[in-house]
Order: sequence, then C-alpha cells, then structure tokens
Amino acid sequence: MRVLILGSGGREHALAWAMAESPMLTALYAAPGNPGIAEMAICIAIDPMDSDAVAAWCRAERIDLVVVGPEAPLAAGVADRLATAGIACFGPTAAAAQLEASKTFTKEICDACDAPTAAWARFTEIGPALAYLEARGAPIVIKADGLAAGKGVTVAETAVEAEVAVRAILGGRHGMAGTAIVIEDFMAGEEASLFVLSDGQTVLPLVGAQDHKRAEEGDLGPNTGGMGAYSPAPVLTPAVEAAAMDRIIRPVIAEMARRGTPFRGVLYAGLMIEDGVPRLVEFNVRFGDPECQVLMLRLKTDLLPVLAAAASGGLAGHQLDWRWNPAVCVVMAARGYPGGYGNGEAITGIAAAQTVPGVTVFQAGTASAANGQILSAGGRVLNICATGETVEAACARAYRAVDLIDWPGGFVRRDIAWRVREGSLS
Ligand code: GLY
Repeated sequence: MRVLILGSGGREHALAWAMAESPMLTALYAAPGNPGIAEMAICIAIDPMDSDAVAAWCRAERIDLVVVGPEAPLAAGVADRLATAGIACFGPTAAAAQLEASKTFTKEICDACDAPTAAWARFTEIGPALAYLEARGAPIVIKADGLAAGKGVTVAETAVEAEVAVRAILGGRHGMAGTAIVIEDFMAGEEASLFVLSDGQTVLPLVGAQDHKRAEEGDLGPNTGGMGAYSPAPVLTPAVEAAAMDRIIRPVIAEMARRGTPFRGVLYAGLMIEDGVPRLVEFNVRFGDPECQVLMLRLKTDLLPVLAAAASGGLAGHQLDWRWNPAVCVVMAARGYPGGYGNGEAITGIAAAQTVPGVTVFQAGTASAANGQILSAGGRVLNICATGETVEAACARAYRAVDLIDWPGGFVRRDIAWRVREGSLS
C-alpha cells in the first residue's frame, strides 16, 4: 500500500513511525513532513491545505491511502477532494469535520442525541452575549465558534474576564472563526481524552490519554497545544469509558450517519469527568498532539490496515491490542512558547537521548540545515517519549533523555503525569 501522511508535527512523526514497519506498506510519503519523518518517509513539498495539489500528486503517484494529521485540511475539504479523485482518505469530510470546526454544530449534535455536555447559548452580537453572561455568572466558558488554532477558548474565572473575552472574539480577534461565539457553563472535574476510530458506522475505541495544556508546572500559565501526555489515563476507568461510549460517542456517530454525513477517521472526545460521570467538553476530528505519540508507543496491532479500514468502511471485525506498559511524552518547546519565540537554534543530542532504554524521540517543529544539523523551527519542537514498567519509570527515562538534549533555547515541564506520580486522581 502506498501511503501519504499530511502534516509536519510530532503527531505525524508518530503515525509515520507506527506505519513504517507495516508489512502492508510499500511506500511512505509525507507532505510536508519534517527531518524526523524524513528518516522513514519521503517528504514532499506540498501544502496540505492545497487539496487540488494533494489530489493531483496522489493520482500521479498512485497513492492508495492518505492519512490526515491536522484538522485544518479536513475542515477545508481535503477528504472530499480525494474522494472525487478516487483516493481513500483517513479523516472526515468537511461536513463531518464540523464536529471540530464549529462549536455550535457540536452542541446541536449533542442536543439532538441527548449527549451530556454543558448548557450553552450562541451569540453573534456583544449586547445579548453580555446580558447572558450577567444572568449566568462566572466561572463561565467563552468559545470562538470556528477553528482558532487552539486559542479560541477562555475559561473565565470572573465576569470581567468573560466580558473581555466576548468583546475580543466578537470584535474580530480570531477573524472569521469568531463571528459567532458559544458561551457555556463551566464544568468542574478532571479532563481526559477518549479516542475512537470510526468508518461511519462501526466504532473502535482506543486507549485513553491525558495531556497537560498549560505551559508551566502545576498546570499553571497560558494554554498551549499540549506540553506532555500520558497513557493510560487512570480517570478513564472502564465504567467511565463505557458511559462515554454509550451516552456520547455512539449516539453522535449514529446521528452523523443519520444526517447523511458519516464520520470516518479518528474522533477525539475531550471529556470532563466528575464523580465518575463524563460530559463532553469538545470534539476534535484528528488525533491529539501529543496524545497520539503515547498511543502509538502502546499500540501492538499493525496501524495501517486499521486506518485503511476506517477510511473505506470495513472496520467491523478489527480489534486493537495494546502494550500494558504506560507511556509518557515530554514536549520540549522553544522558550517563549506559546508567545513569541526564536527559530533556527541548533539542537544536538537526539541520537544520545534515543539510547536511553524505552525512549523514542519524535520531532515536531524542526528543520534541517544544509549541513544536516537539526534546527528548531516552531513552538513545540521535540517530543521525548518513553515507556516503562510504571509511569514513574517512564518519566524517569524520558527526563534522563531530555537531559541529553543540548538545546539551551528549549524548556520542558518537569511534572508531566504528576497526577499519576503523586497517586492523586483529582
Ligand atoms: N493536545 C490537545 C490537542 O491535540 O488538541
């Protein structure tokens, strides 16, 4: 099977790593990829947002399956364009990608199938939004309706913070993504991510994971794309997972099919769990990053046939086997991230880090200099991942590897998986 991966981050490196050994694989490409991915795939200079260029290249190269990493090409219709070219795509159509691309759409779907989520209202004008805020009080959550590169959500502790967020989003901070907002009640509890594969009908759950969205230790500081992750997620007990599957995932997949817009790909449910009861925070229509990295380290089953089956409607009968060992991922980010940061800084020690037993380094925001030197080229730059007998052991290995990386401009959080390491689940 000839496969193209769209994307250039640590998630796509992990997907390439997982598929590279598949007996079904005959050629692996990535667009645009990164220097880590280039060790196992041929990287090509095509913009994943240019659906016509992707489809034309896939036809010329007789690609059998396209695996889409990030959400933006999906929301822009790359799966639809590939379908018209007769090429299988792991990832939903633009209509089904609305589950991530529109907060209003997701809330309407939840209401239609009675999936538990926070009470909400949608606004396009500041006045009515402020009146609603006054009636509901704080804490409260303000979300830009559209895709805002992970920056569209404010969890406002006070009425003043909430008002500032409403004015900023409806005032144009996120452009078209913020022409409407969803205001929803604050949900208390612990967050976890549940991932399922679907071919539009059949649903196959993956193991759970938790990430750390804040930049600083103690889960403080600004929100990021994710500073680390671990799997399994103790808060996602079998009972919580069963409840989430029965009350949220299966009804939503069924509702999407009923509407004639079946969801094919990986559905990532961000859940808030309180007293063992899961409620939906948000959907994403792609693997989490860096959650994908820890999932791939734990997956025993050949990934490629499962993704191909999800893309083409043949998921029934597939099952996934997992290593019992926990896995962790520590993100090395450029100092300043998620604010401004420098690029082009030399990084050494990646090979040394990979000599630590159980450690795998995925590259996220890197570039190659002409002399082959690895340079920083993004906010989240390296993913230092490890497995171990316990979460503590996996973390010890990951941080030993971090200390072998020579990159003065980088930083990590030293407390990844603290909840598990401290034995505190809430
Ligand atoms: N780690 C959070 C996300 O991928 O959206």
